[in-house]
Amino acid sequence: MEKITSREIRSKFLNFFEKNKHQIVPSSSLIPADTTVLFTSAGMQQFIPYFLGDTVPPFKRAASAQKCFRTSDIEGVGDEFHHTFFEMLGNWSFGDYFKEGAIVLALELLRKVFSIPLDRLYITVFKGEKDIPRDEQAARLWKKYSIPDSHIFWFGKKENFWGPIASSGPCGPCSEIYYDRGKEWEIRPHTLKTCGPNCGCGRFVEIWNLVFMEYNQLESGKLEKLKKHNIDTGAGLERLTCILNNLSSDYQTDLFLPIMDKIKLFAKKSNLNYQRIIADHIRASVFLIADGVLPGKEERSYVLRRLIRRSIRYANLLGMQGKNLLDLAKVVIDNYKDIYPELHSHQADILTVLENEEEKFSVSLKQGLKKFWQVANKTKNKGLKFMDSKDVFHLYDTYGIPFEIIEQMAKEAGLKVSYQDFKKEFSRHQSVSKKGAEKKFQGLKYWGEKVAHLHTATHLLQAALRKVLGEEVRQAGSDINIERLRFDFTFPRKLTQEELEKVEKLVQEKIKEDLPVTEEQMTYEEAIKLGALAFFKERYPKIVKVYTIGDPKNPFSREICAGPHVKRTGQIEDFKIVKQESVGAGVKRIKATAKKKE
Ligand code: GLY
Repeated sequence: MEKITSREIRSKFLNFFEKNKHQIVPSSSLIPADTTVLFTSAGMQQFIPYFLGDTVPPFKRAASAQKCFRTSDIEGVGDEFHHTFFEMLGNWSFGDYFKEGAIVLALELLRKVFSIPLDRLYITVFKGEKDIPRDEQAARLWKKYSIPDSHIFWFGKKENFWGPIASSGPCGPCSEIYYDRGKEWEIRPHTLKTCGPNCGCGRFVEIWNLVFMEYNQLESGKLEKLKKHNIDTGAGLERLTCILNNLSSDYQTDLFLPIMDKIKLFAKKSNLNYQRIIADHIRASVFLIADGVLPGKEERSYVLRRLIRRSIRYANLLGMQGKNLLDLAKVVIDNYKDIYPELHSHQADILTVLENEEEKFSVSLKQGLKKFWQVANKTKNKGLKFMDSKDVFHLYDTYGIPFEIIEQMAKEAGLKVSYQDFKKEFSRHQSVSKKGAEKKFQGLKYWGEKVAHLHTATHLLQAALRKVLGEEVRQAGSDINIERLRFDFTFPRKLTQEELEKVEKLVQEKIKEDLPVTEEQMTYEEAIKLGALAFFKERYPKIVKVYTIGDPKNPFSREICAGPHVKRTGQIEDFKIVKQESVGAGVKRIKATAKKKE
């Protein structure tokens, strides 16, 4: 087979669907607009309102290459095909074509564009389960389009029913397309009686999933028919690149090769699994940070922290230097920057965040290892096999060592840790800290117009910080209550007293100048073109509000924001920076107060 690059595959896929009247949609952020889930894990996610019929889609057909992240696969990383971050190629029909259209398009692309011989293709079909009928129609269609009966395999809900992504949402039976790599790839035991898709031997590799999206699953678990029939498909770019180039692992494709080569260069020991883990985790971390995730203690922040810390640990095991991770991140950025320009534009943030996290963890890992050996020896001296779950939790909580790293160290020490007991300990601590958090939130109110002056002051503050410190300052969070504003931003070090005073003074000056604050509505793209700052964690609607402070031709500040704001900066008085804090790797926080002139 001819060599084909991932780049060519991505663009051939999109071009094919564009020619077939699909709107090409850019990848959405890894942080989904719908916050019921932590990450974007499938291409269909940004289209959920279209499937449910909540929003009328502006087009009936779409296709994309979507950045995806799946936490469920963290433990599996290390083999040939598992990743946390990956790109999913997909095409969608919103009440337009259904099974036949999807099957015809998929076969045409695979056979004509990617030149896959028909006899290499195997198909799985939903065999029916409980109230959901067997998908005879799909099987009939596959046969109609030349797939022989012997290449069609039937499976149940676990394999051939896709979705929903959260506890409710669109879903449906699916047909998966498998590629037969040939008998020589039967390298593992068969887990099914017949060798074929899902038998686990390594010969058959899933390359594309076609979901016939016709149900909405309710919270109760009940399935409701959607008003319209839809199509949702997903093909992993890494996998497709691997298969089309006849390689044995995704890590040999051009999506990974430069980073794997660099790891080999840095590593003093060779261990393919560890190399793959580092490559996967660094690539995923780069993409997550570019989309605004910062390492921390909760939810997606903790996922990122785990990825970075795991990479550091495996890098240590291979004898690499901590700083090598930054070079690996640069390789990832270089490899992707023309496809995902956000990697390039956030390069400084990405490297700062990684560096800070690396510095922080290296110190605690060293101390944690000392503590670990104390605990391990204590356990051994007592003649026990399992480490005390309180000690395990302490290593996790105080030294920030992810559970699976503790588990691995225990294994190396000939000991065990119980995940069940760790989880119990974890929940006990969580319920204690939750009580504290609930108390804190009781005072929360909707302040509305009462704090318009603080919203405007926040914009002035961001603009002043960027003027004094440089354009790498970016908003990382903001919170306003009746008493003060709080502004988090990316910056690698503490501000000097002098810098703080400069920023404060600049804001005060702009207040004194009594600049006009104008509000306009426009598309997000227009706003960005005008140079409006957008909070990079946010996903915006198509039409956004833009607030400009000062002369619109040469404004002091321009930001996308929902408001409310005062009409002129002169309505603010007594602006004062009251505190500077550090809130995580590479993120600083400023608290400030101001009054509204009555
Ligand atoms: N949404 C289809 C898939 O993730 O396979």
